[in-house]
Amino acid sequence: MLDLPSPSVKDAPPPAEAVAPLMRGLDVLRRLTDADGTLALAELARGTGLARSTVDRICATLAHLGYLRLDGRDASLAPPLMAVANACLDALRVPGPLGPLADRLADELDESVSIAVPDGDDIRFVHQVLRRRALSISFRVGDLLPGEGSAPGIVFRRGASPSVDDQLVEPGLVAVAVPVRGPGGDVVCAVSVVSHTSRHSARGLPGVVRGALEACVRDMEGVLRDDAEVTGLRPGPRSSNAGGAESAPVQALARGLSVLTVFSGERPAMTLSQVAEAAGLSRASARRALITYEYLGYVRQDGRVHRLTPRVLGLGCAPLSRTTVPRIAGPHLAALSDTLGESVGLSVADGEWVRCTARVAPRRVMSVDIGVGTRLPAGATAAGEVLAGKVGEAVADGPEDGLWSVAVPLRGRDGSVVSALDVTAHRGRGERTAWAEALRATAAGIEADLRVTSRFVTVPRH
Ligand code: PHB
Repeated sequence: MLDLPSPSVKDAPPPAEAVAPLMRGLDVLRRLTDADGTLALAELARGTGLARSTVDRICATLAHLGYLRLDGRDASLAPPLMAVANACLDALRVPGPLGPLADRLADELDESVSIAVPDGDDIRFVHQVLRRRALSISFRVGDLLPGEGSAPGIVFRRGASPSVDDQLVEPGLVAVAVPVRGPGGDVVCAVSVVSHTSRHSARGLPGVVRGALEACVRDMEGVLRDDAEVTGLRPGPRSSNAGGAESAPVQALARGLSVLTVFSGERPAMTLSQVAEAAGLSRASARRALITYEYLGYVRQDGRVHRLTPRVLGLGCAPLSRTTVPRIAGPHLAALSDTLGESVGLSVADGEWVRCTARVAPRRVMSVDIGVGTRLPAGATAAGEVLAGKVGEAVADGPEDGLWSVAVPLRGRDGSVVSALDVTAHRGRGERTAWAEALRATAAGIEADLRVTSRFVTVPRH
């Protein structure tokens, strides 16, 4: 585990209008993020200094909003919380428009490329393209690095261009960063090319990447110029998230959190009235929430408008963004296996085969035992048919005598089939229509989590 900086904590006491339950909820989310996504409730009570009953109520509220999963004694961040990070990434207007250009640069150089923005004295990654698997560390979207000890940090602090990280962050890691300027000449973000001393020395790297990096920055600055012309405040649709929050146990927390997700690429900066209207809150509630966020550094006021800061990415983004389809599917598979009392799993196409990427089997004397990694001939399985993309639902005998399975496709954001979801059991058990229906409902739940997670990051199939 890397020793990454924590955002500096305010010394000044909170303003009288600050919403205490919102502050506590944010503290819980931040602690879970720093712990890489999961903590025991008792540990949260110890860390926050709050009573266990208070922690339970906060976590119940966060679970009600879909932001946490409670599993016995543990609380874990859940994919729907990525909506908060997405609002921030979208409103920053950096990873969306500039990400594809960073991807192209990584292809051209066959090196990792990242985009970072300043976050107080530190830097926060908002886009990552990983190339060399041999790199011992790789940062995630949302991760924080010290400003002084990283190439992008040196760009922001000293305006040096290019800035070089000669193994400041990690032995063997070398990076070159350059600034990308907005139409007004201000530095909007830094693009880094990240390599390893086995490929390039810190002295050699800037020269090797200069041409491609300069061309990339020119293109990025062009995009930002065009983008600035279309930026403007359009009144967006009313948010619908206020309704669900009404029955939440800690209403002030639910209401306060609803403020974060009203920001977007279309509405990166909003007045108090616009925030209140979009969140479906009274002006007084919206004002107190904004005061709380400003105090904690999650929102910045700019004249009459308010904007999210990159610190919002400290609320779950990094642990939730480095994930895989099987990990996202895990809790859904467990619930389905529980409901059906059968073995359910995920698989991907692998040439003439289908390969199992996740499996949850109920504990019973006779159960189907197909481990993760097992390959079965595609032609003989329901999953194989579904992965071939021809059918929306398939039934097949096998994979072994006496077994049968029903499978449905699992689709990604772009509608393509990313995996097959199946239930496999001994023949004579189960019923096709009922199983297909249960599989489809589970697939819809996994797909919703996958959509919110993969908006700004790539989620591998296995
Ligand atoms: C990165 O992982 O993207 C990275 C690491 C260190 C730097 C710059 C970028 O100095």
